[in-house]
Amino acid sequence: MCGIVGIVGRAEVAHRLVEGLKRLEYRGYDSAGIAILRENGVNAQIERRRAAGKIANLEAAVAAEPPRGRVGIGHTRWATHGAPTVSNAHPHATDRVAIVHNGIIENYRELKDELIAKGRRFESETDTEVVAQMLTDYLDQGMSAEDAMAHTMPRLVGAFAFAVLFADRSDILVCARRSSPLAIGYGEGEMYLGSDAQALAAMTKRISYLEEGDWAVLARDRAAIHDASGAAVERPIRTTELSGALVGKGNYRHYMEKEIHEQPEVVGYTVMGTIDANARAVKLPKLPFDPAQLSRLTLVACGTAFHAALIAKYWIEQLARLPVEVDIASEFRYRAAAMPKGGAAVFVSQSGETLDTLAALRYCRSQDQRILSVVNVPESTIARESDLVLRTLAGPEIGVASTKAFTTQLVVLASLAIDLARARGTIDRAREMALVDALTHVPSHIAAVLQSRARFKALSHKLAEARDVLYLGRGTSYPIALEGALKLKELSYIHAEGYAAGEMKHGPIALIDEDVPVIVIAPPDELFEKTASNIQEVIARGGRVVMFSDAKGIERFGGTGIDAIATPAVDPFVAPIVYAVPVQLLAYHTADVKGTDVDQPRNLAKSVTVE
Ligand code: M6R
Repeated sequence: MCGIVGIVGRAEVAHRLVEGLKRLEYRGYDSAGIAILRENGVNAQIERRRAAGKIANLEAAVAAEPPRGRVGIGHTRWATHGAPTVSNAHPHATDRVAIVHNGIIENYRELKDELIAKGRRFESETDTEVVAQMLTDYLDQGMSAEDAMAHTMPRLVGAFAFAVLFADRSDILVCARRSSPLAIGYGEGEMYLGSDAQALAAMTKRISYLEEGDWAVLARDRAAIHDASGAAVERPIRTTELSGALVGKGNYRHYMEKEIHEQPEVVGYTVMGTIDANARAVKLPKLPFDPAQLSRLTLVACGTAFHAALIAKYWIEQLARLPVEVDIASEFRYRAAAMPKGGAAVFVSQSGETLDTLAALRYCRSQDQRILSVVNVPESTIARESDLVLRTLAGPEIGVASTKAFTTQLVVLASLAIDLARARGTIDRAREMALVDALTHVPSHIAAVLQSRARFKALSHKLAEARDVLYLGRGTSYPIALEGALKLKELSYIHAEGYAAGEMKHGPIALIDEDVPVIVIAPPDELFEKTASNIQEVIARGGRVVMFSDAKGIERFGGTGIDAIATPAVDPFVAPIVYAVPVQLLAYHTADVKGTDVDQPRNLAKSVTVE
């Protein structure tokens, strides 16, 4: 979702701003732009280049007429207010200021009316432009850049991060954050600004993060940071682990394909990070609560991470006998959930920046809950606001569709379930060793699924013709059915629904006919016979069934009239981690057949920082 880059440099910045924006491409966007201060005596002139669509279009505009200057800001925009056109692309500017913005100004309509009544003229449909106009209004009243910021900030309602250039201050840029993240980078005689450390990693490894309500003035040799009250504050400078190299696709055609194939390796790293292989035991850091004292655990997340949390509910309730509540963050944050005294909540997020998940975390914090997070980006806001972070070691995930982030989340959550069960005395040592052994074998099972990818590719040609697809599963395969449907719709734009197999006869069975493929996730576990009966119900109504199971399951089903794809035989405990991969492969190949933008599907963003 929108990305911000800024540089107060010693040398020209246009090219570096564009490079910084490329590093933020993974967040998802639909237009891009830069603004640079062209020095011209006391006053500088604001020069903008903006383009709809990909950054390549912006690069062409910059190459055609390079803007020159040593201070600049850049932006990738994911449209909220107004279509993704050049006039709505950031930066928004007057002759005195240029601004880039991430987030939403909720009261922009009333502010816009007020400014129009004062004679200000607007060029775009965006909420952002009100901030440019309001700053200009204050400057025109004779205020300094700092005072104009200090007057503007309290008038804005919503979540945002800003970077602002002032034409009469060619040596600074000003930035501010409320909810949306912003990182300051420290260079040699230069200062940088970015939505995250990834944007800055090629320029510096020394990063500090603005905190809620902070605003800062960046000059070449210093950052003056203020908190929401205006008091000068220091924020710690950390050394980021991120590499300056752009993450490439290697020999793969898409990032998503590469990331699917990285799973044996990154799942292996993550397993090794959560277990002691010699002791055949889980080894997590000390939890920030006593599991034996908990009456309930709350898990909150969005999208694919929510599906990981749903699977964790089955694991934790079955192994640790601990009641688990799971909710979608956008619902949880507004339903004034009653939280048990001394309770704990777990937040699952690849990016660690998803706004709804972060808001849910802050709600739980306000309810005195201990906060545990399962996060892939260690420097993210959710990670920084947690009492304990359990890291997924997936590495950077660039494709918008979550793949390796999901399977590594499942590994961490499975380990957490074992840890809780051990602490609550609900499993014995032999069971812990068996569960840990099962986790240890997951990377090779995933590698085996990847070996048979040709079968999923063959199936994808048929699936690409479908208008609607149903995914069914029971137990921990039910969230995999939800995930399969989400993957297929987000990548191939085919309508798909995931259902608990037992729920089919309560409604979705009405959809069954020969044109609606039904994908059934059916590992041969204790619920297999029930799922097999549901498959028969589909066949009886002329439905086309594709079953994912192992050789034993396919033999147990014994029926004809279905397509079956054999997966490796796995312990039922880890089945959802392994069966996640077939649904990813199927969605990937189907999207590829349909020719959609696999890595950046339409309308989607990698990091969803608006609600
Ligand atoms: O970064 P997060 O894990 O918090 O993101 C949550 C969802 O936005 C994300 O999983 C989304 O559903 C993916 N596009 C699914 O592939």
